[in-house]
Amino acid sequence: MKDYVATIVENKEIACGICSITFELPEAPAVRCGQFGDISVGGTHLLRRPIAICKVDGNKVTYCYQVKGEGTQELKAMGVGTQLNVLMPLGNGFFVEETERKVALVGGGVGIFPLISVLREYAGKKEISAFIGFRNKGAVCGLEEFEKADTFVGVTDDGSYGEKMNSVQVFAAALEKGYRPDVVLSCGPLPMLRALKQLVEEKGIPCFVSLEERMGCGIGACLVCVCNLTSGAHARVCKDGPVFNCKEVEL
Ligand SMILES: Cc1cc2nc3c(=O)[nH]c(=O)nc-3n(C[C@H](O)[C@H](O)[C@H](O)COP(=O)(O)OP(=O)(O)OC[C@H]3O[C@@H](n4cnc5c(N)ncnc54)[C@H](O)[C@@H]3O)c2cc1C
Ligand code: FES
Repeated sequence: MKDYVATIVENKEIACGICSITFELPEAPAVRCGQFGDISVGGTHLLRRPIAICKVDGNKVTYCYQVKGEGTQELKAMGVGTQLNVLMPLGNGFFVEETERKVALVGGGVGIFPLISVLREYAGKKEISAFIGFRNKGAVCGLEEFEKADTFVGVTDDGSYGEKMNSVQVFAAALEKGYRPDVVLSCGPLPMLRALKQLVEEKGIPCFVSLEERMGCGIGACLVCVCNLTSGAHARVCKDGPVFNCKEVEL
């Protein structure tokens, strides 16, 4: 992990309220899929914003972010050539075992972006099926990446693109038709992860989820991001996660 001085080479809106920002770093970083960066947004904001690393191409790193509060609004306003501090790569990331051949990606909302990094790492090496939920047609993005999966099903909450379903419902429908992955990798809003946890536990399918928590330091020192494990112990989402075995974490 390094604190890079990163130069913005592209910052553009890719869907309604969702932007993609690409930084050039002084070197090519070694990144696992599912890791994240902590991006300084300047101004009066002391806390950096944790964002999943979406794509790495040599020394260029792309993050996709939803414009939400002040920090991401400031990020959106930043032009090409602006330099920011980006601490990365952080967290453990996703890992697929040698023995796991069929991988299901189940993602919703901004949780789809770390799953793009999984696709980029494992496409062609594993049989990947992506079940991806968007809010509506205007929020649809990343199709050029998801279409690299062996199977891709995109749905929306309102049915304006694909069927009117969420990603867990469309994944459950595939299971009903006989599809059975060796492992599920997921990221998305908490209610979605809770529904997925219940489903995979019923079906006995291994599943790993990437969690979002408010963060302070991003490197395991401040304990702002602590979550509860089913064992009764606690874990730091930034350092011990953000990826956890679904059965070991309380959602
Ligand atoms: C590991 C990780 C990966 C993430 N990856 C992405 C991603 O790929 N794309 C994306 O759009 N968003 C992602 N998020 C959520 C993103 O960090 C927040 O949307 C962002 O920090 C909001 O900042 P803001 O200043 O616009 O909002 P504000 O609400 O003004 O933020 C105020 C404070 O709360 C924190 N905060 C607000 N919402 C969240 C949240 N959901 N999770 C964590 N901290 C939050 C901010 O970092 C800031 O410190 C991720 C979060 C985590 C923990
Ligand atoms: S954010 Fe400080 S320990 Fe996780």
